[in-house]
Amino acid sequence: MTNTVKKKPRKTAAKIKPSISIVPESVQATKTNADLVARREAAVARGVASAAPIFASHAENAELWDVEGNRFVDFAGGIAVLNTGHRHPKVVAAAKAQEDLYTHTSFQVVPYEPYVALAEKLNALAPGDHAKKSLLVTTGAEAVENAVKIARAATGRPGVIAFTGSYHGRTLLTLGMTGKISPYKKDVGPFPSDIFRAPFPSLRDGITVQDALTGLQNLFLTDAQPERVAAIIIEPVLGEGGYTPVPFEMLKALREICDTHGIMLIADEIQAGFGRTGTWFAIEHSGVVPDLITVAKSMAGGYPIAGVIGRADVMDAVIPGGLGGTYGGNPVACAAALAAIEAIEEEGLLARSTALGAYFRERFAEIGARISPLRMWDIRGLGAMLAVEFVTDFETATPDAALTKSVIAHALQRGLILLGCGMHGNALRIMVPLTASDEIVDEGLAIFEASLAAAIAEQHA
Ligand SMILES: Cc1ncc(COP(=O)(O)O)c(C=O)c1O
Repeated sequence: MTNTVKKKPRKTAAKIKPSISIVPESVQATKTNADLVARREAAVARGVASAAPIFASHAENAELWDVEGNRFVDFAGGIAVLNTGHRHPKVVAAAKAQEDLYTHTSFQVVPYEPYVALAEKLNALAPGDHAKKSLLVTTGAEAVENAVKIARAATGRPGVIAFTGSYHGRTLLTLGMTGKISPYKKDVGPFPSDIFRAPFPSLRDGITVQDALTGLQNLFLTDAQPERVAAIIIEPVLGEGGYTPVPFEMLKALREICDTHGIMLIADEIQAGFGRTGTWFAIEHSGVVPDLITVAKSMAGGYPIAGVIGRADVMDAVIPGGLGGTYGGNPVACAAALAAIEAIEEEGLLARSTALGAYFRERFAEIGARISPLRMWDIRGLGAMLAVEFVTDFETATPDAALTKSVIAHALQRGLILLGCGMHGNALRIMVPLTASDEIVDEGLAIFEASLAAAIAEQHA
């Protein structure tokens, strides 16, 4: 790898397989992927789709084994949750130590220090030198919902502006803000009112930053009275929508527009945060300071916790009892988050992200030119939050979702877990743990190359 911060395989963590005695008999009886897929289909609602027809047995850093003993390199990281890898020894140890003390009291009944310590840490990490406060919840969608509630309470206004192609969650309010119909919004509306959509600047759709800003100004003239808008929410790097970074000039313009109209700027960092792009928060690259930030995913290295960080005066707008939830800021997840953040600091994972991003870009460009000339249309992202986009040809740049799907399927057969993204389903995103060794990264890239070659050959057959 050309850049610094080489990662050697993690030595500290033992490769522990769960003892067979802790596996329920019903599971022991059916240990093939096919059997488990059949049971799953009979027992689990089909709306919960899984990308891979395999069942996890155990995992370590950037590797995962299925119940049949097959080994996979993991470039998906449980959807951007594992910047510190599967079962980071520090994260697991912190969670176990917390479990030995207490696992739940509900912060609203008997508070505990790990919640406060995590809030202090988040306040210190978030951009801006103003006073900050934090709220902890359980999922990303819940964080987004609460950010909207806080912005509404702080401004006394109802409106929310989100962007095309954005993803903010699957609850009804966040679905209203999510800018993609299928599969998320299909058949489950109506959605809450006072949510407006502005165009996202997109090279693919020929929408420049100026076009996007004109669209927003038109929205103010036609549907969203600016004095009635509480918040503009944006992902600094579009996640599910295709790993497209928002141009910095757009973020700066949004900051100015929000200041002019007294609107809260919310950065949704749920997918882009905690080192994925080479900084703690992706918006830091632009120098823009948002009023509120939503966080989740890689904050806790695999434990369910999320939060809202924001200006102290804004965060305190909601009356006591107006925020929270039974499990919000669970102590085990708080301990895991504090450990994951410490691991990112101690292991230099921000620099590792930048180095990995540069390496992946270089290798993708070289593999694309050699294996699939004029099919890999775009390699984009920020730091190690990267995607490649496939098209049928460069002239029409028609999205090739079939090729993308085929690469993912071939990769799984060869031992690599990949995940797609994008409005047209034709992008592959890289969410490999930042703790992955150079050897594992190269192994995954070699499988990617072979899978792309196989998918292209199949198209030509
Ligand atoms: C940017 C963004 N916001 C919100 C969410 C919703 O998070 P969760 O799935 O934890 O509810 C996601 C999940 O992928 C996300 O990427």
